[in-house]
Amino acid sequence: MSRSDKFDEVRKLFPATEKLAYFDGGARALLSVNSRKALDELLDARIYEGGDKPAMMDLIERVRAKFAKLINAAPDEVAFTKNVSDGLNSIAGSIPFEPGDNMVLSADLEHPNNIYPWYNIRDRVGIEVRDVPSKDGQIDVDAMILAMDERTKIVTCSTVTFSPGFRTDVPKLGKACRERDVFLLVDGVQSCGTLKTDVEELQVDAMAVSTQKGLQSLYGMGFLYCRKEAADGLRPERLARFGVNLGEDTHEAATGDQAFDFMPGARRFEVGNYNFPGAAATEPALDLMLELGPDAIEERNCSLARRLASGMHQLGLPVCGDLDDPLRTHLVTIGEMDLNNHEGAGNGELGALFDHLWSNGVRLSIRRGVLRFGIHFYNNNDDIDRVLDLTRQWKEQAKAA
Ligand SMILES: Cc1ncc(COP(=O)(O)O)c(C=O)c1O
Repeated sequence: MSRSDKFDEVRKLFPATEKLAYFDGGARALLSVNSRKALDELLDARIYEGGDKPAMMDLIERVRAKFAKLINAAPDEVAFTKNVSDGLNSIAGSIPFEPGDNMVLSADLEHPNNIYPWYNIRDRVGIEVRDVPSKDGQIDVDAMILAMDERTKIVTCSTVTFSPGFRTDVPKLGKACRERDVFLLVDGVQSCGTLKTDVEELQVDAMAVSTQKGLQSLYGMGFLYCRKEAADGLRPERLARFGVNLGEDTHEAATGDQAFDFMPGARRFEVGNYNFPGAAATEPALDLMLELGPDAIEERNCSLARRLASGMHQLGLPVCGDLDDPLRTHLVTIGEMDLNNHEGAGNGELGALFDHLWSNGVRLSIRRGVLRFGIHFYNNNDDIDRVLDLTRQWKEQAKAA
């Protein structure tokens, strides 16, 4: 089967694609029927038999290993979390900050969930938050590197910004952080599952994601990757039994000596029992992503995004960024950025286009005043052409009015 036939086959697993041109993966991606089947099986076992804990724990370890494979990490480098914020806060709370230390971010383009944890530590511990302005809608990695000094403990950024959706040059930042022994924590939620997100290539120490976006699963679950050597040097801020190493085959309700060791790697960050339904729904999505391969997924998503961006540009719409910018992604945004506007498009005309698309079965979002189309591999050329045809129609109607 050719690669494009394979993607056509896969699209059938997402029934919403039959009626919608779904481009809202930047908020939450579509869920496949395979995820529902896995959830049904888990719930049936729970409803009719009370639930099989060893089987549920096996599920957790399978999902851990599969996510680790997707991002090119080892299973011990992956912890289960609740969402992006939970993973970011786990790392933020475990860094041994002292008053007078600093951290670096670019608040213009970060999601608030990767800003407030740092303001909180600033106010609790007395660190400085060094906020580096963005440049042309992109995170200015060179300026972030210049902002580091010998008191910098951590740098954070998104692998892809939630709006306007450009890639950050994380490998460059990662290299600079390693040279200076500074921790690099990324919010990977806008690239994981949609673009190849290889933690070794990116040279990050930790990455937080949640599962409802590119990973095509439910709200309420996430993963925290933490490089083993980096994790082993951290004392988790919160601790429970699964974060303590009592040796293999020791019961989950066992307590050891008062002196204890943390679990190796990222497992030390796990607090209490798992979101088993979340894991069940995520497993088939990871299976699909591993089968298709992150390179092929990225190529498909970015080529569909290029078709949409150039089509919109030809129709005279203000597509964000240069069409041939190598930092373009599967997110296509249109309009003028307005940092405080998440509801309406800053430009009233684009608000009308949003309404026209929405009422004709297109799903997308508005973030920071721009229309945001988030492409995933269940999309195809017909979806793109539907948006372009509707936009052309809207323009003609507006001209005639
Ligand atoms: C870049 C980014 N980070 C974080 C979040 C959300 O964080 P959480 O998973 O903690 O709700 C979003 C979107 O919801 C996002 O786009």
